[in-house]
Amino acid sequence: MEPKTLISEADIRRRVSELAAQISRDYAGKENVVLLAVLKGAFIFLADLARQLPVPHRVEFMALSSYGKGSASSGQVRVEMDVRDSIEGSHVIVIEDIIDTGRTLRYLIDLLKTRHPASVATCSLVRKQDRHEVEVEIDYLGFDIPDVFVVGYGLDYAEQYRTLPYIGIVEPSGS
Ligand code: XMP
Ligand code: MG
Repeated sequence: MEPKTLISEADIRRRVSELAAQISRDYAGKENVVLLAVLKGAFIFLADLARQLPVPHRVEFMALSSYGKGSASSGQVRVEMDVRDSIEGSHVIVIEDIIDTGRTLRYLIDLLKTRHPASVATCSLVRKQDRHEVEVEIDYLGFDIPDVFVVGYGLDYAEQYRTLPYIGIVEPSGS
């Protein structure tokens, strides 16, 4: 079944351009800018955002997994794949697809800070409102969304729907 549209392709495109413009202003003239995308979900967002950033930058990837009962994130995060090159002295912008409880991002920021970057900022396409359980600041946020399970534009349901051009809601089966 086709996911029901929550954020259209046009709205995403417009917002990504705005975020790119904002980041470009904030990082103008800075050296060693690193866009650090969290796999797999952030790959589409990274690709669109990065291509609109005139600021010289490199891209890095990390893969994280969080363990919890069912679909809830427990805050027990493990690094499945680490960055290829050191981030020491770099201005790191973490690129995330979605912030739910905030535990995954909190863990990642704390880890990155032990590696002596020049700075760490956070950028997420969406955030689930009223779901955050831990304190974590998002410097660049695309959209606040209600507490529904979303797919598309990188986000998956059992590895499906990642390449949908919009963000949609999948109805739970059986309902
Ligand atoms: P926390 O709770 O640590 O979780 O902020 C962030 C991670 O949870 C997954 N997640 C989702 N994935 N649609 C998805 O495809 C959703 O609606 C959703 N909510 C949470 C995701 O892996 C994210 O990195
Ligand atoms: Mg994910």
